[in-house]
This record gives sequence, structure tokens and C-alpha cells, in this order.
Amino acid sequence: MIQIRRASDSDAVWLVQLVTDPSFNRGMGDDAQKGALLALAVPKKFEFHNAGRGCILIAQDQTGPLGYGAYLDSISTGYSYVEYGVTPSKFRRGIGGSILDALIASARQSGSLGLQTLCHLENVASIKLLSSRGFERPALANDPAPFKRYTLSFAFDFDNEPSPIEIIPPSSGS
Ligand SMILES: CC(C)(COP(=O)(O)OP(=O)(O)OC[C@H]1O[C@@H](n2cnc3c(N)ncnc32)[C@H](O)[C@@H]1OP(=O)(O)O)[C@@H](O)C(=O)NCCC(=O)NCCS
Repeated sequence: MIQIRRASDSDAVWLVQLVTDPSFNRGMGDDAQKGALLALAVPKKFEFHNAGRGCILIAQDQTGPLGYGAYLDSISTGYSYVEYGVTPSKFRRGIGGSILDALIASARQSGSLGLQTLCHLENVASIKLLSSRGFERPALANDPAPFKRYTLSFAFDFDNEPSPIEIIPPSSGS
């Protein structure tokens, strides 16, 4: 059975191994340095996670970690940057979907305004996953960038809760 839990510092070694695996990086463009760059960012992600400025989740079964997901909060936008990945030998078993669902639930609960990510235009699996969970890509004409921004907004989703905006009637004197 697959469980999803919060990461601990000891998961960093496994995460570096995952992101430097060439099969893992295949859908992320031609940059030969991609794995090395992702590995360099791992300590920063744990710094955010431990400081409560985001969250790293690990999907695992009895054999060990199978995938991860993370969101990192942006103070300037109120949105969180999200990323995720699965051990290549475990692709297409629904693990990526389960991780993304857990990230969405956690980020929503944390008060984030929504999630954003950049996805390579040829990353079919990730595009399918993001679209199935309601992420949208703004249509920008003549956008030559290979990485496209996908956004899932929580800002206007109040889940039938009472509106936090109080409508004050205009005073009779105005
Ligand atoms: C993207 C990724 C996380 C998907 O993980 P996964 O566990 O294989 O995904 P799931 O099994 O939950 O599949 C999600 C959907 O994508 C589809 N899918 C997965 N791989 C696919 C592929 N290569 N081609 C077409 N569809 C694919 C699945 O069929 C499923 O759709 P469905 O629910 O309609 O059946 C995984 O491919 C990965 O780790 N890639 C490398 C890292 C990466 O690209 N991260 C995202 C950066 S934006």
C-alpha cells in the first residue's frame, strides 16, 4: 500500500538520487545540467520545508520512497510553486496523481492562494496530470519558451463557506 507522509531530512539523499537519474529528467528538455541543478536545489527545498514556508511530501510503500512532491510558498504572489516526480520504474501506476492530490490538499489547507508550476511542452505525462487536476495554462500568442506556466487558483474557491467579504450598504448620507 502506498502512503504519503511529510519528508524528513534523511529523505534528501534519496531525493538527490532521484533528480539526477537521467530517466527521470527525460521529459524536462535537453539541458544536460538539469539533474545537477535540481540536486543543488534540494537543500533549499528542505530549508523551506523545515521553516514552514512550504512542504515536501514523500510517497512510499514497504520498499521505500517511490515519489515526492513539494510546494514552496512565494511571499510576493501568495501562490506556491509546485513540483513532483516519481521513480521512473514506477511511472504510470497512479503515484504521481496521488502525490499531486495530496499537495493540492495540503497547500489549500495552509492558506496558499493557489499552485503554479512550469512544465516542458513535451512533458506529456505531467501536462495530462496537471490538466486533470484543474491546472490551467494561459494562452500566450507567440510564446517561444519551452516551459509553460500552469496555475491552479484557490483564491476564489470558498468551498461553500460563508463569504469572507462583508458587504456594507452605502450610508444614507452619501
Ligand atoms: C509526471 C510524473 C510525475 C507522472 O507520474 P505517474 O505516477 O506516472 O503519473 P500517473 O500514473 O498518476 O498518471 C497520471 C496520468 O498521466 C498519464 N500518463 C502518465 N505517463 C504518461 C505518458 N508517458 N504518456 C501519456 N500519458 C501518461 C496516465 O495515464 C494518467 O492519466 P489517466 O489518469 O487519464 O490514466 C512522472 O512522469 C515523472 O516523475 N516524471 C519526471 C518528473 C517530472 O516530469 N515532473 C513534473 C515536472 S512539471
